[in-house]
Amino acid sequence: AKTVHEQWEISYQFTHSDCVRKLAVTINGGTPGPTIRAVQGDTVVVTVKNLLMTENVAIHWHGIRQLGTPWADGTEGVTQCPILPGDTFEYRFVVDRPGTYMYHAHYGMQRSAGLNGMIVVAAAPGGADAEPFAYDGGEHDVLLNDWWHKSTYEQAAGLAAVPIVWVGEPQSLLINGRGRYNCSAMAPDAAACNATHPECAAQVFAVVPGRTYRFRIASVTSLSALNFEIEGHEMTVVETDGHYVKPFVVKNLNIYSGETYSVLIKADQDPNRNYWLASNVVSRKPGTPTGTAVLSYYGGRSSPRAPPPTAPPAGPAWNDSAYRIGQSLATVAHPEHAHPPPPRADRTILLLNSQNKIDGRIKWAINNVSFTLPHTPYLVALKHGLLGDFDQRPPPETYNHTGYDVYGVQANPNATTSDGLYRLAFGSVVDVVLQNANMLAPNNSETHPWHLHGHDFWTLGYGVGRFDPAVHPATYNLRDPVMKNTVAVHPFGWTALRFRADNPGVWAFHCHIEAHFFMGMGVAFEEGIERVGDLPEEIRRCVSTKGGGH
Ligand code: C2O
Ligand code: CU
Repeated sequence: AKTVHEQWEISYQFTHSDCVRKLAVTINGGTPGPTIRAVQGDTVVVTVKNLLMTENVAIHWHGIRQLGTPWADGTEGVTQCPILPGDTFEYRFVVDRPGTYMYHAHYGMQRSAGLNGMIVVAAAPGGADAEPFAYDGGEHDVLLNDWWHKSTYEQAAGLAAVPIVWVGEPQSLLINGRGRYNCSAMAPDAAACNATHPECAAQVFAVVPGRTYRFRIASVTSLSALNFEIEGHEMTVVETDGHYVKPFVVKNLNIYSGETYSVLIKADQDPNRNYWLASNVVSRKPGTPTGTAVLSYYGGRSSPRAPPPTAPPAGPAWNDSAYRIGQSLATVAHPEHAHPPPPRADRTILLLNSQNKIDGRIKWAINNVSFTLPHTPYLVALKHGLLGDFDQRPPPETYNHTGYDVYGVQANPNATTSDGLYRLAFGSVVDVVLQNANMLAPNNSETHPWHLHGHDFWTLGYGVGRFDPAVHPATYNLRDPVMKNTVAVHPFGWTALRFRADNPGVWAFHCHIEAHFFMGMGVAFEEGIERVGDLPEEIRRCVSTKGGGH
C-alpha cells in the first residue's frame, strides 16, 4: 500500500460554475476540488491550509469509516475543533474499502459554498473485494450538485430569522461543477453573467463505440434529490456507497444527497450524434432547469461539443414517490458480496423526523429535540472528562409512536434544543428506525437522506405510514440487505437500518440536506470512547484541557 499526498489551500475565489460570477470556497482555486484517487489499503494524507482569512473550516471524508482514526473524520463540533484562519491541519486516514465516495466541508453551510469533491478507491488487485463486473471502456466520474447565487451567510441568516426566509430552489444544477444559467434572465452585465465563460462549458464524456463504461456518480447537493439519466442508454447499477449490489437495469437513477452509485453503460447507440447527461430535481416541486453534460462517441460525425439534437430528458414525475421507493427496494447486496446482518438488535432507537418551532423559529427535530453542536467537540470532551461541556441527559429513545398521526400537522410543534448524545455499548447491534411525518404545513412531507459517519449500515426495510414495532420488523430483509452510509427516508414513510457499534469514537448521524442539519436535524452516537488512542493536539485547539491533555 502506498501513501497518497494532497496539498490543499482553501480560499475564496470568484468562480463561474453556472456562468454567473460567485464568490465560492475553493480548493487550490477551483470548485469542485480535485478527485482523490487511491487503491484500497492506501493511506491518504491531505494537508489543508485555511486561507479563508475570516472563516473556519473542517473537511469530512464521506463514506470513509476512519477505523482507528476517529479524529480524522473532519466533523467540526463532533470530532475536531475547526481549522482556524491561517492554520494548517493534516488529515491522515486509510481507505480500507474500494468504492465511490466524496468529501466536503463540515462546518456551517460551507459545503454549499463549493468545498466538495470525489474520492475514488480502486479495489486491491486480486483481493477479495475485486469487482464482480467488468468494463472494457474505462471510467468516468460524475459529481452532481445544486447551486445558489446567494451566499451561504445570507441563506443561514434567513433560516434563523423570524419569519423564516427559506433558501428556495437552486438556481442551477451542476455536473462536475458546470451548469448553465440563462444570462438573459439577469440584468445585462457581462462580468456578472458570462455565457461563454470556460468554467461553465458543459462537461463532455467521450466513449468508444461498442465499449462498456463505468460511471461513478456522487451527489453532494445541499437540498435537491436528483434523477440522473444518460439519454438513450440504459444503466446497470452495480455499486452504491462502496458496496456491490445485485445488478439491476434502470432508464434513470434516483440519487439523494450523500449517496454514490456506479453504473455500467454500453456505448451501443448511433455514434454520429451526441446524447445528454441530465439531472432533474425530484421529490420537491422543481424550480430549476435540467442540469446537463454531453456524451459523445469517438469517431462519430458529431463534434464533441455539439449540443445533442434533442431536448434534454425531463426525468420522471417529481412527486412519484412510489417510483423512487421501487429503486430503494431493488437495491440489494450482490450475492457474492452479501454480509448478512446479525439476526437481531440489542437496542432499537425510534427517531421521529418532524418540523417544529422553538421561540417562533422553525426548526427540525428528532423526537422533538433539535440538535445543536457543542463548543467542545464530543471526542475531546469525552476523552478528557469535560462532561460539563455538553448536555449529559441522553436524547429520547423513542416518541409517542402509538398515538402519532404521521399524516397530520403535529398538535404541539414546540421542541427543545440539546447537544446531548446517544451512548452505545461497544460492539452492540443497534437498530434505528427513521420515521418521517407531516411538516408544519398540511399535506406535506419531504425526503430526508440520512448519513451515518464511521459505519456502514444494513438497509433492513422501507415502509409508508407509521412504523409499528410489533409488526414491521417481521418484514425486514435479513437475507441480502445492501450496506450503505446514506439512505432515503421517503415522504410519510419509515426506513429501518442496523449497524454494529464497533468503531471507537463519536459519530454524527444526520439529514444530509445542508439547511436541515443546520436547523437541527441530526444526532450523535458515542461508542468505545475508552478504546480511542491519544488525540492529536491539533484537533483540540479550541479547548482548554487544564491538565487533562498530554
Ligand atoms: Cu456528507 Cu456529515 O456528511
Ligand atoms: Cu432533511
